[in-house]
Amino acid sequence: MNVLILGGAGMLGPYVARQLAPRYTLRITDVKPPAEELPGEFRLLDVSDLDGVVEAAEGMDAIINLSVLRRHRKVAWDVSARGCYNMMQAAVTHGIRRVINTGPHYTVAGRNITECFDFGIGPDIPPQSGADLYAITKSMGLEICRIFSQHHDISVQTYLFYNFKDPATIQPGEHHAPFVISWENAAEVFPLGLEIDLDALPSRCEVFYVFADMPHGKFSNEKTKRILGFQPRQDVETLWRRTAVPPHL
Ligand SMILES: NC(=O)c1ccc[n+]([C@@H]2O[C@H](COP(=O)([O-])OP(=O)(O)OC[C@H]3O[C@@H](n4cnc5c(N)ncnc54)[C@H](O)[C@@H]3O)[C@@H](O)[C@H]2O)c1
Repeated sequence: MNVLILGGAGMLGPYVARQLAPRYTLRITDVKPPAEELPGEFRLLDVSDLDGVVEAAEGMDAIINLSVLRRHRKVAWDVSARGCYNMMQAAVTHGIRRVINTGPHYTVAGRNITECFDFGIGPDIPPQSGADLYAITKSMGLEICRIFSQHHDISVQTYLFYNFKDPATIQPGEHHAPFVISWENAAEVFPLGLEIDLDALPSRCEVFYVFADMPHGKFSNEKTKRILGFQPRQDVETLWRRTAVPPHL
């Protein structure tokens, strides 16, 4: 299977590339060159360049979008929203039926609303990104993908992450956000999405939370395990117990 990766030279890209390389033919693209050698073919490509994305998708069987630009008022829209439009337009042009998009958990569960007060939050809640630039541009990208999937025979899986960590590097006493997944474990979801029978998905636009199990039940990865067969490999509870007690207690 030929797989196009957009934004593949970032933090997550090399893990995904190494995970996929043994079984897939990769065309990895990014607006900047990779810091390390990546498997497969590499091309410089700006996701906001429609013609370039369409050209890069020629001959591909699937597209994975890892690109993101978080904090620039205009470019964040160009990458996270327009990039999705260009990716879906490329899929239409070449008859590519399998697309995997990515983003942060607050693409659907905004930091200041849902995240603060609710528990058992799944990926299919009514989307409420809030006004955070990163969240709202990714949220717009998701809606663009959803609309394309309603009008074309294209299946889009959107994988949403919280924060990544290599558990081996966490020191006792180090401050870290409580919901973690290792880069390697997160990368394992991509071959599952490339292999799943598209007709087995509940709809042509499905969102998945790719997290470790959370002992406090804030967010739920149940759907990702049930439908994709994803296996979290980190015990978050153990990581929490390694955090030192603050000195004043
Ligand atoms: N890193 C995290 O902690 C984190 C947390 C939650 C979700 N995510 C999501 O995971 C995915 C991968 O994120 P990452 O951590 O690798 O991010 P990253 O910041 O490393 O960015 C990914 C890549 O996007 C590329 N990019 C930026 N502008 C581009 C453009 N115009 N055209 C093409 N590529 C462009 C960057 O060069 C980079 O290589 C993203 O969807 C992100 O929202 C990341």
